[in-house]
Amino acid sequence: MKAVEIKPGIYWVGAIDWAIRDFHGYVIPNGTTYNNYIIMDEQITLLDTVKHDFSDITIGNIKSITDPSKIVNVIINHIETDHVSSIDKIMELAPDATIYISDRGKKGLDRFFDLSKWNVKVVKTGDTLNIGKRTLLFLETPMLHWPDSMMTYVKEAKLLISQDAFGQHLATAARFDDEFIECASHAELEDSVVDYYANILMPFGQLIKAKISELQRLGLEIDMIAPDHGIIWRKQPGRVIRMYQDMADGKASLRIAIIYDTMWHSTERMTLPIMQGIKDEGVDCTVIKLRATPGSIAVKELWKSRGCLIGTPTLNNTIFPSVAGFLTYLRGLRPKNRIMGAFGSYGWGGGAVKEVYEEFKKMGLETVEPGLQVVYKPSAEDEKLCYEFGRDFARKAKEYHKKFE
Ligand code: FEO
Repeated sequence: MKAVEIKPGIYWVGAIDWAIRDFHGYVIPNGTTYNNYIIMDEQITLLDTVKHDFSDITIGNIKSITDPSKIVNVIINHIETDHVSSIDKIMELAPDATIYISDRGKKGLDRFFDLSKWNVKVVKTGDTLNIGKRTLLFLETPMLHWPDSMMTYVKEAKLLISQDAFGQHLATAARFDDEFIECASHAELEDSVVDYYANILMPFGQLIKAKISELQRLGLEIDMIAPDHGIIWRKQPGRVIRMYQDMADGKASLRIAIIYDTMWHSTERMTLPIMQGIKDEGVDCTVIKLRATPGSIAVKELWKSRGCLIGTPTLNNTIFPSVAGFLTYLRGLRPKNRIMGAFGSYGWGGGAVKEVYEEFKKMGLETVEPGLQVVYKPSAEDEKLCYEFGRDFARKAKEYHKKFE
């Protein structure tokens, strides 16, 4: 690899991780990139580092442009391991450089590295750093998605270095949105944006809306967004901002995701007539079996859909473990503006469906109750009930969806 010039004198010097599939438990089928950038100005400035496994790669990329010992400033926009864990290697090469970081970032970084040997300056929203021909403006974005998070705006280049925000877990040879769309598609790129948002940023919709409004109030002209993962938005930066606004507003398609697991196929047999009922009501539907599909993909499908049905057998008087795990993951993501229902099979006691509704209540989600349970194996009569259950849920989802049109 070599550095890629993204704006005159500003280079991507990151790394592509083609092989990673498990990102702290979040399954990323397409790998990812760790993007960082260097600005060649009177004061050479590095923005972010990469995951420690790739420190040699970023240092090699930096060396393709300059001697790393000439780096004067290092901006740390976010202290999560995938972005900061090469900082010690960088500081070995540029020991006199000054690190610029948010206050919470400094406090967090101090837990991972001995900061006493480095020059560290705390910055806050509105602070600027003149590096020669260019001026950097710092914008704190607390809880998007860590307390320390911030962005850096390069005024003269109209470039927003957005750290995790607007990123995608996408390992690709393309560095820019238009390059990626040319060799893949818009749909694939947008799917990656939704996947990333659903699994990382879903809990922070209100903060995202507030931050986008703040950017607009500041009147920043943005003609490129360079996130710390995935492709750089040089052709359509406005498109990804609009996507974020829509997702933060809870927009979704009139569509229903059936997410289930099964012991001896009884709950599974219920999904087919339920799906048929939904379809006959004119609503699109997708069916996802947990244990065959990572929970992170199920979350993405749920997030794309206005409604979701959870199917679970009762095991030992409670929710089937894979479904319980999924619901725990989902609760942490604090989904909003979705209508939910549940169904499942049981042998003697039952109870899992009731518990699933209790989970929905904890999440504050709209529900269609009381759900549907069948004993042992669905009979022909039960299948008719499943079909009607699907139709009824689809009708209610259509009604609920009107609130968002
Ligand atoms: Fe890509 Fe929050 O780290």
